[in-house]
Amino acid sequence: MMGKKVIITGVPGVGKTTVVNKALKTLKEMGVEYTSINFGSFMFDVARSDDIVQDRDQMRTLDRGVQKRLQQRAGQAIAQVTGNVLIDTHASVKTPKGYLAGLPEWVLREIMPDIIVLVETDNDQILMRRLTDETRSRDKEGYNSIAEHQQFNRSIAAAYAMMTGCTIRIVTNPDFLLERSSAELVEVLR
Ligand code: AP5
Repeated sequence: MMGKKVIITGVPGVGKTTVVNKALKTLKEMGVEYTSINFGSFMFDVARSDDIVQDRDQMRTLDRGVQKRLQQRAGQAIAQVTGNVLIDTHASVKTPKGYLAGLPEWVLREIMPDIIVLVETDNDQILMRRLTDETRSRDKEGYNSIAEHQQFNRSIAAAYAMMTGCTIRIVTNPDFLLERSSAELVEVLR
């Protein structure tokens, strides 16, 4: 039987990885297995072995052509994975030269997702989460800039749906309501 291919996206700091990990744990208890893939990790492994970057937060500042090559290699490798697959990535990446499509045609053609999930929450909550996350080198952005990025992600997701016929699902991840967000994601994935 063909597996489900689900892509999960959200601006940095929205908490998509936190929601995914919780949802996957619940699904496992229900007997539903997913292979969880972090798109950025695939890109980073290649970039580090080619000695292009030292940490994953440097990748979004690389030349557009280099980011495109890394995306392409990650897309091709991920396309080989069979069964139910959950891919943690970005609808768009904020680079110094503007928004870069996270799922351009050459990546979507490889993956052909069934569903793209957008994880969202209030802009001020994202701002606070970034400020308090000491494990990463998060972009220092204001409220309006985060709002613009979340809005841009909705727009570009519409283009992805047009290209692939996939559905777009918005899951919100507000403060103190992680249980509810993860339950929503479980419903999408089961
Ligand atoms: P990636 O590793 O995916 O970077 P990221 O967006 O920073 O992802 P994280 O998983 O770290 O963020 P998150 O929002 O999921 O946060 P978390 O769950 O930790 O990608 C790295 C790089 O790869 C990118 O920058 C890019 O360069 C590149 N890349 C990836 N895909 C690409 C593509 N397709 N094309 C081109 N480049 C690509 O949560 C954050 C914080 O919030 C935590 O402190 C957590 O405790 C807290 N939190 C979470 N949920 C809640 C809640 N409900 N209430 C309160 N706090 C919460």
